[in-house]
This record gives sequence, structure tokens and C-alpha cells, in this order.
Amino acid sequence: MKLTTEDYIHILETCEIKGHDEAILRILRYIELGYPVMLYGPPGNGKTTIAEHILSYIGGDESSFLKIEATEGMSEYQVIGGFHPLAMSGNAELAKEFMYKDGIVTRAIESGKNLLIDEFTRAPSSAYSGLFLLLSRDTLPLEYKEIVIKKPEGWVLISTANFGDEGTFKLSNALKRRFVPINVGYVSSATEKTVISNITPDLDPEVENAIILFASETRSLWRKDRSIPQGLSTDGVIKMARYCELAMSQGFDAKSVFVDAAFHQGTIIADETDPHSVHLVHELALKIAEDM
Ligand SMILES: Nc1ncnc2c1ncn2[C@@H]1O[C@H](COP(=O)(O)OP(=O)(O)O)[C@@H](O)[C@H]1O
Ligand SMILES: [Mg+2]
Repeated sequence: MKLTTEDYIHILETCEIKGHDEAILRILRYIELGYPVMLYGPPGNGKTTIAEHILSYIGGDESSFLKIEATEGMSEYQVIGGFHPLAMSGNAELAKEFMYKDGIVTRAIESGKNLLIDEFTRAPSSAYSGLFLLLSRDTLPLEYKEIVIKKPEGWVLISTANFGDEGTFKLSNALKRRFVPINVGYVSSATEKTVISNITPDLDPEVENAIILFASETRSLWRKDRSIPQGLSTDGVIKMARYCELAMSQGFDAKSVFVDAAFHQGTIIADETDPHSVHLVHELALKIAEDM
């Protein structure tokens, strides 16, 4: 896969996600070099959107790649394929029609499409044993069909993952090494200001500042001692900004709409089973509101 300087510039300029130019450049270089990449970082900071944007551009449009979102119950069957349950049907017609079912990797390769595996670590590593072989050896025997598939030249595989989130599996080291990890973390407050000024141009500037401060303080709490499991994401910042803009247009005051929105998002980012964690976020919101 060869990309020109114009491609790089176009991809950066048209990306909806702001403030991740470094990460995007790194991803593009590894794609050019033919390595699968894994975008990792806390939820709501643009991983999926960046991956889809890049894949759409390099393949021409959204139909040029397949996408699967991994789940806890996912297995080799969804990833590579296997005998269709109806192959065992007592009905001969049905059994003939549904011999086997290709998984997402097989379908992508056979139809000449690139692949996005979103939320990779939601599935256990065992779901990826076939993919692992394919990435290690460039070929994979499909036992259920008695054929061998080959990793195509220039095939692009991107995955996204959250390494620390509840409900994720730890990647096996061997599998982890097949991907180049690229961090997509929290963006700067300055970038977030630009993002929300575009989305909510009528937002009260005082509320805007309070939201940005709330976001950066929750991230500091997370970084310092993990007293909350994650900081507020840019997605959360946008939701707060939109809620506050709407509620204030209905006549509610700045302080109360801010606290209201902060409590909603606070419940998402705090560990809701830990009263201390929820309390911390609430205290933070009230303190910021006091200084407004
Ligand atoms: N840096 C950013 N700039 C602009 N929008 C952002 C940014 N980060 C997140 N968003 C918004 O949050 C939404 C969710 O992002 P998403 O790609 O689903 O994140 P992730 O996959 O990391 O959970 C995006 O569609 C976008 O609207
Ligand atoms: Mg995502």
C-alpha cells in the first residue's frame, strides 16, 4: 500500500476527530509498511471514527472494508468460520444449503476488502487463533472447507481496543505482538475548546470553561491514582456541551445545568458500584460550579 503526501494531508484535513494528527500519521505509516495496527485508549476519544475514516479513504468508500464489533461470546466461528449449525439439520435440503459459514476475516479476504475489528479485547484471545495463524504465516487452512486462504498483498487490518476497561479480556502476548499499538488518548483542552465551539456555538463561555476544566480534572484523578476508572472523554465533553446549550436556551441557569450534566457524565465515568468514586466526581462538579 503506497500513500502519497497528498493522501496523508487529505486524510488529516478531512478527519472529524481533532487533535490526533500524530496518531493518524503513525497509523498511516504502519499501514504503508503493511503492518496491522491496534488503536488503543479510553472509550469516547475517537478510535473507531479514526479507523473508519482511514479505511474509507484508502479503499475509496465505506463499502471497501468490513467491520465487526467483538463481543464476549465471540469465537473462531464468527472470526474465521466453521460448519453452519443447519449443516446438521435433519432436513437434507437445508443441510445442503447451509454447509458452512465464513467468518468476517474469511469474507473480507474472499471479497477483497479490508477489515476493522472494533473493540478487539471484548472477545477472548481464543476467538482469534485462526487470525493469529494468518498474521504469523500469511496463510490459513480452512479445515471446514478444505482450502487455504492467503493474506492478500496490501490487505489492511485495523483493530481498536481498550486495555483496561471492565469487561475486556487481556490479550495474549503472542497475539498482541501481531499488531502495532498506537495510543489514542485524551486531547488537549485547547483542541476540545475548538471542537465544542464548532458543535455548540451558542454555549455560554463560562459553562464551556467549566466543562473543559471538569474534563481535565477527571483525567488527572484517573492518572494520579485510578480513583476513578477513566476520565471524561471528548465524547462526554460534547454531550455535556450540547445538553447545557439546550437547557440554557430553555431558561435554566448556568450553574445548575452544568452540575446536572456533570452528574450524568460523572455516573458514566465513575465506578457506579463504588460510592467513593461517584462521590469524588460529584464533589468535583460542585466545586467547579461554586467557582463559576
Ligand atoms: N478529538 C475529537 N475531536 C472531535 N470529536 C471527537 C473527538 N473525540 C471524540 N469525538 C466524538 O466522539 C464520538 C465517539 O468517538 P468514537 O470514535 O466512537 O470513540 P472510541 O471508538 O474511542 O470510543 C465521535 O463520533 C466524535 O463525535
Ligand atoms: Mg469505539
